Amino acid sequence: MSRLVVVSNRIAAMEGKKESAGGLAVGIMDSLKDAGGMWFGWNGKISEEELPLEKNQQDNITFASFSLKQSEYDQYYLHFSNTVIWPAFHYRLDLVQYQREDYDGYCQVNERLAERLQPLVENDDILWIHDYHLLPFAAACRKLGMANRIGFFLHIPFPTSEIFNALPPRKELLEMMCEYDLIGFQADTDRLAFIENLSLVTEVEDLDEDRFSAYGKDVTVRVYPIGVEPDSIRHLAEGALPQKLAHLRDKLSGQLIISVDRLDYSKGLPERFQAFETLLENYPQHRGNIRYFQIAPTSRGDVQAYQDIRHELEMEAGRINGHFSTLEWTPLFYLNQHYERSLLMKIFRHCEVGLVTPLRDGMNLVAKEYVAAQDPANPGVLILSRFAGAANELTSALLVNPYDRDGVAGALDKALTMPLDERISRYQDMMSVITKNDIVHWRQTFLSDLKAVPIAPNKAKR
Ligand code: G6P
Repeated sequence: MSRLVVVSNRIAAMEGKKESAGGLAVGIMDSLKDAGGMWFGWNGKISEEELPLEKNQQDNITFASFSLKQSEYDQYYLHFSNTVIWPAFHYRLDLVQYQREDYDGYCQVNERLAERLQPLVENDDILWIHDYHLLPFAAACRKLGMANRIGFFLHIPFPTSEIFNALPPRKELLEMMCEYDLIGFQADTDRLAFIENLSLVTEVEDLDEDRFSAYGKDVTVRVYPIGVEPDSIRHLAEGALPQKLAHLRDKLSGQLIISVDRLDYSKGLPERFQAFETLLENYPQHRGNIRYFQIAPTSRGDVQAYQDIRHELEMEAGRINGHFSTLEWTPLFYLNQHYERSLLMKIFRHCEVGLVTPLRDGMNLVAKEYVAAQDPANPGVLILSRFAGAANELTSALLVNPYDRDGVAGALDKALTMPLDERISRYQDMMSVITKNDIVHWRQTFLSDLKAVPIAPNKAKR
């Protein structure tokens, strides 16, 4: 029987270790738990020796993980993935630092990973590759003669041509992506941008709805907005708060605003802090009555732009608290720490407002998790950036432009004063979408489409 083989750069931590804060790991873990199979990815270790793959079995999932050499980590992960693709795909060309050797290292690591995976894969296994670290992975597999069905899902946005054109290897990247049988994006804007970019560099022939031929390869391109597991979130959220936190919640009178993000410049954190400051300035009636908790664990701390955003945020938090705090009241709590997901879901339920305002985001699962964690009889209000993929589905959130601090401050005031019946009605609208497009739906539609795409004889030596 064909197995599901998932490949991603980041592999979820084994039980008992710290979970990754990103949405990708959560989404894949939930899928694999259901379907069973193998997860192949980086174990987070650096070693100059090529160590044998680390293998672990957890229920029906085999984890096979590799370490990277320092130069591979630098070129493939730090530089090309996270100082070229990540900023460019999040529309931050100002942060891109491109060097040809990093791109070469990125392609070489993709090739090496394909070589290490090949002996573990049976001919009829289905491969599902995830995210921007692995754009050339199918091309590397095809070079080795692997004829498996290979699908790809991009968890982050795909940029329009004004941005993508600035990447020197843009043609090579697009051509290599066409070696996938199925490419999935979070939103229609991403799908359209990919097709637009492709048509600018080569002839694209329409074969069927969502299916076309480019570079002599047939590829299907569709949208699969990633979801969450609403039942398990509700279950986690309903559990009792740990004693210390319950005590704290009782002590803190007034309303709470919560945000949880990886500490990343794409999340719009300084802009969000400034919008909160504008709320305190323009709506002084909230002073003393509200508290804003920003949880933002450090991410990619070896990249300069991430060190810069961290310093900026520390300064902003200090400045705002210095200005508005009183002896009895501190308005902003900035927690540069990791919290277990199960605890976060309980915290979400106890917070009146979920503030999710990235400048650009593929989906943003925190937005969906915040809603799914609410008490249906007394739900909180989600404020959501219109530049997050989730805004396409959660149209009953208070949608905001994260660059407009007066607009976000206005939305915060509206959320803090919203009557119960409106909160319930918005919550119900959002829950119906979250329940319909849940993680099972995401996985099942992607995998059934991948199993159904016509096998293209013009790819590899099938
Ligand atoms: C985002 C990306 C993931 C990545 C995660 C954490 O969610 O889409 O691919 O794994 O961030 O980032 P990191 O660099 O620590 O893996």
